[in-house]
Amino acid sequence: MIETSQGSQTGRANGLSHDCQGTGCSERDLRCRGAVWPMSGWYRAPLTPMLFTRWAVSLPLGSQRVEKDRLLRQAAELAAANAALVDRASLPLGAAAIDLGCGPWGIVDLLADRVGSQGRIVGLDADPSLVAMARELVADRALANVEILLGDARHTGLDSGSFDMVHARTLLINVPEPEQVVHEMVRLAKPGGWVLSFEPDCEPSICYPPDSAYQRLLEIFPQMFTRNGADWRIGRRVAELYRRAGLVDVQVEVRSDIYPKGHTRRTIRVDLIRSMRQYVVELGLAREHELDQLFAAALEHLDDPHTIVMPSLNFLVSGRKR
Ligand SMILES: C[S@@+](CC[C@H](N)C(=O)[O-])C[C@H]1O[C@@H](n2cnc3c(N)ncnc32)[C@H](O)[C@@H]1O
Repeated sequence: MIETSQGSQTGRANGLSHDCQGTGCSERDLRCRGAVWPMSGWYRAPLTPMLFTRWAVSLPLGSQRVEKDRLLRQAAELAAANAALVDRASLPLGAAAIDLGCGPWGIVDLLADRVGSQGRIVGLDADPSLVAMARELVADRALANVEILLGDARHTGLDSGSFDMVHARTLLINVPEPEQVVHEMVRLAKPGGWVLSFEPDCEPSICYPPDSAYQRLLEIFPQMFTRNGADWRIGRRVAELYRRAGLVDVQVEVRSDIYPKGHTRRTIRVDLIRSMRQYVVELGLAREHELDQLFAAALEHLDDPHTIVMPSLNFLVSGRKR
């Protein structure tokens, strides 16, 4: 069953073995639903039972207020780059499109704008608190053609071939088996439909002049991802995943930026590790006291307007279903 903004819909196959409504799930239910976050240690990592339990239910990044705010700012900051990606598809009025892993907003407004009032937009996310936030925003903005679903991007349970465009932004970087999501994206697209990804590749990164605190945080960052199988270098792999999934006309563009002082993406690496702080400590990657010092020193360095920061490359990838 997939919960929708208009109530639960029964009778849709979605690979679930129970009637999970998303909110108020037990740990077992969440595992059953397959909600994934790179730090959700139940997926692969050989963690202790205590961590196993706590991580499975908390979806640490997405459930924290600070992370929600960051995702909302991200939606605004990446809008222009995303518009260029979406424009490759020239969606007609009345089209249907889905944003997988939409978080609290994603690009649902951009898509809604493109397809007009006769079109249909779906946003889908695995985190109940982010889904609730997205639904509030949809209601506030009276977007009648947008529906927000709680579900797993790997197995949405939605009908095959039902969307003219399937999009995901910074989702593949969070899942241990991105090919499963790509496969689902292709399944959801209509023949001739578009599949689009906007995914970072975090290994290429610049901070100049160098700073030892920032550098240390950069070293901690991939350990959080690789531990559970998610790929912090996913950007460079997306086109290959698309071709392997049978997509044609695959196009890749790489964009990046040097973010000025005051821009929220300037501090994204620091912000993400702050969101994961509890888990960084539990994994023994740094102590509380050390983290306090690292955050303070790194932020001071980034606060200098002369510091040059490029936190990652963004890969904008498109493909079409035969
Ligand atoms: C970094 S956030 C990006 C949010 C949004 N796409 C954006 O760019 O603003 C990643 C999102 O993917 C969601 N997510 C992770 N694994 C998922 C899965 N298996 N199915 C659906 N959503 C998932 C998270 O809950 C989170 O909202």
